[in-house]
Amino acid sequence: MEETYGERLQKVLARAGIGSRRVCDELIEEGRVTVNGEIARLGQRVDVESDRISVDSVPVGVLPGLVHYLVNKPAGVVVTASDPEGRPTILDLVPPDPRVFSVGRLDFATEGLIILTNDGELSQLLTHPSHGVEKEYLAQVRGEVTPSAIRALREGVEIEPGVTTQPAKVANVGDNVLKIVIHEGKNRQVRRMCEAVSLQVTRLVRTRIGSISDSQLAPGSFRHLTQDEVRTLSEVAVRTTSRLLGR
Ligand code: URA
Repeated sequence: MEETYGERLQKVLARAGIGSRRVCDELIEEGRVTVNGEIARLGQRVDVESDRISVDSVPVGVLPGLVHYLVNKPAGVVVTASDPEGRPTILDLVPPDPRVFSVGRLDFATEGLIILTNDGELSQLLTHPSHGVEKEYLAQVRGEVTPSAIRALREGVEIEPGVTTQPAKVANVGDNVLKIVIHEGKNRQVRRMCEAVSLQVTRLVRTRIGSISDSQLAPGSFRHLTQDEVRTLSEVAVRTTSRLLGR
């Protein structure tokens, strides 16, 4: 009964933006496509609802109806589905249908890029601590930005008893603004890192998630991620995991 099962894999891959049907056939022939962990066959049919499809070990989002929004969050918006205090929520900034959720969080006062999606697989890839996708922030700080503070932030600082941050990329970009790149997502991490070296964050903006940045996206607005961006994000997450696990 295989002929009536699902859809042809090559068609599903092409619809997901992997390439033309011919290119997708070549990928399958080269053994670069797996279905549920097994190398796919040419002409194979798949069920997009239940089969897990990967190209070069990177999961491919094949469900029709998946949306991925990149939102530029303004300060004063809470990242939650509903707020008991009635404050504006991040969901007010995107269409109500289909229902989406945020990938990670930003504080009420933090501005900048956040991804909203109904793609559970991508969300899990990006938020799992071992995947370590880079997040870049610009932090306006009050206090004296000394070389030793920068060094400490780079090496890792204790943000609560027994909890030290992983090494970070930190640059003083002038005017008491630090560019900080981290791949963890501890609660209020950047603010607490700065507090640990006696700096108070007065404004915090997330400017990049993995390879995704967009200086043209106005505060309060959103755009769809391109299929290339979604794929690159998944690739980065998968590669980082492999590196961290020594595979
Ligand atoms: N670090 C913080 O302190 N706050 C955020 O919103 C994000 C990272």
